Amino acid sequence: MKLIVTGGAGFIGSNFIFHWRSAHPEDQIICLDKLTYAGNLSTLKDILDAPNFKFVKADICDRPTVYALFEEEKPDVVVNFAAESHVDRSIEDPSIFLKTNILGTSVLMDACRKYGITRYHQVSTDEVYGDLPLDRPDLMFTEETPIHTSSPYSASKASADLLVLAYHRTYGLPVTISRCSNNYGPYHFPEKLIPLMIINALHDEKLPVYGDGKNVRDWLYVEDHCRAIDLIIHKGKVGEIYNVGGHNEMANIDIVKLICKALGKPESLIEHVTDRKGHDRRYAIDPAKIHRELGWLPETKFADGIKKTIDWYLNHEDWWQPIIDGEYQNYYQQMYGNR
Ligand code: NAD
Ligand code: DAU
Repeated sequence: MKLIVTGGAGFIGSNFIFHWRSAHPEDQIICLDKLTYAGNLSTLKDILDAPNFKFVKADICDRPTVYALFEEEKPDVVVNFAAESHVDRSIEDPSIFLKTNILGTSVLMDACRKYGITRYHQVSTDEVYGDLPLDRPDLMFTEETPIHTSSPYSASKASADLLVLAYHRTYGLPVTISRCSNNYGPYHFPEKLIPLMIINALHDEKLPVYGDGKNVRDWLYVEDHCRAIDLIIHKGKVGEIYNVGGHNEMANIDIVKLICKALGKPESLIEHVTDRKGHDRRYAIDPAKIHRELGWLPETKFADGIKKTIDWYLNHEDWWQPIIDGEYQNYYQQMYGNR
């Protein structure tokens, strides 16, 4: 099988490539990535020259380049991870989110229609369902929960999902969609909660918790997400949406305290800062469908996954230090300087 994996130099896409190469070593993978601020070629350094792997630097919105790649490679499967993924950046400037996440998705699917594929898989998010109240722990997102977005990021991801379903119904494109909860693990870009708190704590810098810190996210170890996508590609039903999550809801403040404890840092580093605009209160995925239909279950317990993740950041300063020394400094100053 030959796959095009877009966004494979980012957090989940790179973990997916590592997963797929070890689970299906005979398959060929072409990673298409624009290498935005969030893409790191260094993440893929060990496989750049490997057989059955090719890296192509390109923008999914660049129709001629995407078509030329499909014409040359004739992929069987396309897995689309490429996206602008950070909610805070989407609040500052939505435009690139609309371009990459919506128009880019349509370009990829047009290429799939033109050159023919056996599966187009769209990597979506639980954020398309909006949020849930803190005082109703009985409520969870199912695949039938109506789309109800809060941020420009989630609105762009929901728009892409609607387009994917439209291409299936209108053109018969063989699509699947996964909607996963918050991932954590190796190669997570330092702007996101868990790596940001680990790296700041290591430097004894303040740990900026938005608002009261009681917002709840449903955390899943990235490898479990990758296995779910693998299963959906192999066994999932065309035209279907699958929620992915491991029933692991945690308040932000508890995650930050746990990181302090694991690193032997004082909780006095925690500082409550101005809340995110439109901040979703709680996410909670009901993964019953993917369990029932495809037999998927998460394998990594949060206690183990967070330990592995913290250890990974302790041992891979060579990966994250160049990132935080670069353009990230400006981003951090702009986002947190006067917060
Ligand atoms: P990320 O920001 O770490 O990586 C995104 C990657 O896409 C980068 O390598 C970047 O260079 C690439 N990219 C961006 N724009 C591109 C373009 N125009 N053309 C080609 N490549 C481009 O993101 P992530 O956290 O790995 O998320 C991957 C996907 O999973 C996204 O679609 C996101 O919406 C979804 N998702 C993420 C989470 C999470 O917790 N991180 C959870 C559920 C779903
Ligand atoms: O739910 C899936 C989504 O998870 C994905 O679709 C997104 O691509 C991914 O970025 C993530 O979105 P979140 O907004 O939930 O992740 P983030 O790490 O930005 O924030 C997690 C929570 O922590 C959120 O409630 C905001 C809070 N937070 C975040 C940062 C960066 C803080 O309190 N302080 C911070 O400095």
